[in-house]
Amino acid sequence: MDGNGRWARRRLLPRAAGHRAGVEVLKPVLEAAGEAGVETLTLYAFSTENWARPTEEVDTLMRLFLETAKERVPELGERGVRIRFVGRREKLPEEIQSSMREAEELTAENGKLDVYIALNYGGRSEIVDATRRMISAGLDPEDVDEATFSKYLYAPEVPEMDLVIRTSGELRVSNFLLWQIAYAELYVTDTLWPDFSKEEFTKAVESFASRSRRRGGV
Ligand code: FPP
Repeated sequence: MDGNGRWARRRLLPRAAGHRAGVEVLKPVLEAAGEAGVETLTLYAFSTENWARPTEEVDTLMRLFLETAKERVPELGERGVRIRFVGRREKLPEEIQSSMREAEELTAENGKLDVYIALNYGGRSEIVDATRRMISAGLDPEDVDEATFSKYLYAPEVPEMDLVIRTSGELRVSNFLLWQIAYAELYVTDTLWPDFSKEEFTKAVESFASRSRRRGGV
């Protein structure tokens, strides 16, 4: 959800205003995803690298997660969204962790759209954490293959990613779901996240639908 800071700067507003505007885009995007028949959507909300931002911005983001969870989760739950989180949750403030658990519990039985929120998430950390868990489980190296490895990721039930949408024109993967996006199609738009819309989401899905996916074949 890139470009919140730039969106704010262009309007001479504090970066927090950009993040707030970014939250408003979640609803139309989730609606568009539901309408397009998307089954799983992952939002990259806070990376393991984002702790390097000024404390004030980190605090703002944490407050915004809490507020958003409190204000929006009940409605999302009513609309059939199942919320799950991926990332190093044990390193997040206790208050955040408990609101994550609440959101997961409240929406656990839903099945219309699975929304994963990547919070304190890093693709490399996920691979390191999976490796640690495999070693702790005492796996024989001979038994480690791609299918086994996948079972130790944060959300082993998630199917492989089909499409990555990157806003604000960045041509980077930025430590997002490194394992899961091996064969994903990439869609980059110059639109900054707060200006992203239902129409843009639909455009990305249409672009995906027109791709020929060979996965190394011919
Ligand atoms: C990247 O833009 C955005 C973030 C680091 C935060 C995204 C978070 C939200 C939209 C808030 C809420 C989300 C949930 C799921 C409750 P940037 O700040 O790097 O922008 P810039 O590249 O223009 O500086």
